[in-house]
Amino acid sequence: MLTSLPPRALEDLMKEAIQVAEKSYSPYSGFRVGAALRLSSGAVVTGTNVENVSFGLTICAERAALVRAVSEFGPDIRITAVAVANLNGAASPPCGACRQMLAEFAGPDAAIIFPVSDGTRTMRFDEVLPLGFEMKLK
Ligand code: THU
Repeated sequence: MLTSLPPRALEDLMKEAIQVAEKSYSPYSGFRVGAALRLSSGAVVTGTNVENVSFGLTICAERAALVRAVSEFGPDIRITAVAVANLNGAASPPCGACRQMLAEFAGPDAAIIFPVSDGTRTMRFDEVLPLGFEMKLK
């Protein structure tokens, strides 16, 4: 079971992700990605990928959205749904680094929707990141 969301919430979130991908700064890969986060308040925060000539400094769309959400709404945000889109017609599940970053703010039943080879796929967060790193000191 996914977290309960208003009808069409995922569809709307996907539209926002597609829209923000138009703003992508991706001169090196040409891969234009957008992400939209829905928060427990109902607010939607978007982000796009921002590349850098020193390739490793590139920021993915999901993490751009995440830092924007915390900057705007503070450290107590909870993510209830994430949509990822790209303008290249390719599959693009969130990368491992983004999954680990999202884990900080997303519950196990948060919905993640992303493009796959034959459409889109929706999964629970604990399915896309079953064993994320946690720090539980004894
Ligand atoms: N990218 C994202 O924005 N999100 C991901 O989850 C994976 C990759 C971006 C980074 C880079 O700008 C481009 O896609 C190609 O890797």
